[in-house]
Amino acid sequence: MPKFGELIQTADWKSEKHVPVIECADQIGADEVFDVKVSLGKEVDHPNTTEHHIRWIQLYFKPEGDKFAYQVGNYEFSAHGEAAAGANEGPVYTHHAATASMKIKKPGTLIATAFCNIHGLWENSKEIKVG
Ligand code: FE2
Repeated sequence: MPKFGELIQTADWKSEKHVPVIECADQIGADEVFDVKVSLGKEVDHPNTTEHHIRWIQLYFKPEGDKFAYQVGNYEFSAHGEAAAGANEGPVYTHHAATASMKIKKPGTLIATAFCNIHGLWENSKEIKVG
């Protein structure tokens, strides 16, 4: 039986449209509130249609030397052109991007996961320093 982690794919976000891109400062001050933008399609667009879209992005922080990762946020993208008139006839599409405001006490790793409704789970990570 596959373990959940084995189902999460990764690649270079510059060439693979499913990989979440994490954008924030490389180094921040301890207890300084900073923004982290997580998105898909910075280089290669991912579709946003009723049939094919990103359902959610989750952001985690794993402090250096800590056994556990902590969830920072869960961002759901609920509208993809659905309507009574039919697929892609709806008036609204949620774009697959979110910004978290957060602070940390220790350096560590930001980890983002994204779920495509037909291509499954993807992840990326970014180191962040404090000081
Ligand atoms: Fe996809």
